[in-house]
Amino acid sequence: MRLRPLFLAILVPLAGTAQERDATSTRGMVVSTSDIASDVGAAILAKGGNAIDAAVATGFALAVTHPSAGNIGGGGFMVIRFADGRSTTIDYREKAPLRSTRTMYLGADGKIDRSLTAAGWLAPGVPGTVRGLALAHQKYGKLPWDEVVRPAAELASRGFRVSKGFAESLNGFVRRSGARFPSTREAYGKPGGAEWQEGDTLRLADLGRSLGAIATDPNAFYTGWIADSIDRQMKANGGIITRRDLAAYRAVERAPVKGTFLGHEIISMPPPSSGGTVVIQTLNILEALGVSRFTSANDPALLHLRIEAAKRVYRDRARWMGDPDFVKVPVARMTSPAYARELARGIDTAKSTTSVALGKGVISVPAGESDETTHYSVVDAWGNAVSNTYTLEGGYGSGVVVRGAGFILNNEMGDFNKKPGETNLTGDIGTPPNLIAPGKRMLSSMSPVIVAKDGQLRLVTGSPGGRTIPNTTLSVVLGVTAFGMSARDAVDLPRLHHQWLPDAASFETGVADDATIEGLKAKGHTIRVGSRQGDAHSIVYDAATKTAYGAADRRTPDSKASAPPQ
Ligand code: DON
Repeated sequence: MRLRPLFLAILVPLAGTAQERDATSTRGMVVSTSDIASDVGAAILAKGGNAIDAAVATGFALAVTHPSAGNIGGGGFMVIRFADGRSTTIDYREKAPLRSTRTMYLGADGKIDRSLTAAGWLAPGVPGTVRGLALAHQKYGKLPWDEVVRPAAELASRGFRVSKGFAESLNGFVRRSGARFPSTREAYGKPGGAEWQEGDTLRLADLGRSLGAIATDPNAFYTGWIADSIDRQMKANGGIITRRDLAAYRAVERAPVKGTFLGHEIISMPPPSSGGTVVIQTLNILEALGVSRFTSANDPALLHLRIEAAKRVYRDRARWMGDPDFVKVPVARMTSPAYARELARGIDTAKSTTSVALGKGVISVPAGESDETTHYSVVDAWGNAVSNTYTLEGGYGSGVVVRGAGFILNNEMGDFNKKPGETNLTGDIGTPPNLIAPGKRMLSSMSPVIVAKDGQLRLVTGSPGGRTIPNTTLSVVLGVTAFGMSARDAVDLPRLHHQWLPDAASFETGVADDATIEGLKAKGHTIRVGSRQGDAHSIVYDAATKTAYGAADRRTPDSKASAPPQ
């Protein structure tokens, strides 16, 4: 039985009506997980800012209104496509501190001590967000820096309304981390100690001061008083990030990774993210398998092929990928159509190949990743586009707030392979490319993507979700490119994930009906149904009419597509 995309969309548990989360505009668009932050970005577009200005403003605003993932204490990736067809990326991924060591997260018993990577002062990498957004703006922004950063500083100082979903999230954070880290309770706890309620105002005075200083000079974070605060508090609490780490941090402009899929150009993030490479390699395999003969992204026969493709691609990710400044990653081979055809030939259409069989010589199980990171998409009136995904890694990162500076530090060090040589079926990867080294960036899965067709912008998308990210991005890309879906239908389309190991696929409700799932099980697949996957705020662009169609993902409560007044 063939399930039509429209029917499937209705089955996904989504909040709000599509209309509330959509916008159409010829004057530009910002789509993010926070209605307030989307409005900040749209206001910058209304002032004549370009997509890069709006992306920088939105990034700083999310650090205020969406502190579980929006940040100045973390890092991320920005993909930019200019209206004239040129494209570039900004890598502002965190780096391992200079005093880090390969085995710093192993306990006396030789096992990984996950309490050290989950939270606290040893968990953070050297933050990259401020230098990343500053580099993007310095090279490609149009409005003055102060003008794009100031709205976030004002938002933090003035305070903003707490929504129902945010109140719940914040209360969990304060309960968990506030008890352990007094600076966190002081910054994010409700004065008086009660729980946050919908409609309360959250004021973040210290964060406002930090953002104000950054608006005057981004170096305040790396060589000024904020750097001093980080250095001092790290020393006092057993952390290892120093002033020297901060002063040495640089964001890097890198050439995008590119591919073609059914006549579309796919532009995304190269290493140290695996994301773009994983998306392109998977699309190449699907094209080699004849994806265009299917009428739905979740056609039962195609589901089998998507799972089989994912297993092979994620195996290669574990085998080969790490920071390109430290290891040679064979990106050209991984993204070549010839290699995809070779992998496609190994796929049996009648039955699943086990992950163990595919993993000879590399066997590993990806470590667990929590579900906080955030993606936003921006297009301006000229047709320039920005696709930005950034993160603290886990929800609210390390849980540690830098006292007096008001921001939360990431726990990104956990994205490294933590036990050299041990790659096993219980959750640890020990392959060499992603081992810890001073100054190295940890491998990521974030995959901000921009798609063009016939030299014109077509789609801006991306998502949070740890290792599920490339599969979520892929789902939106497939929907729009192979199946002609609108932004709304592609974002609503129920998603699936397989990451090679564990050898099980997870399906959102609505990917497949019971009979289809039984059919897949008969082919040898393990299927788990009921996940919620990603948060893919996306824009589809119609170059003929210069119109942006924004679709905020309804899987999260406060997302919004905002446009300047038309
Ligand atoms: O860089 C990465 O791939 C992870 N640190 C991202 C974490 C994440 O997406 C958590 N998610 N929702």
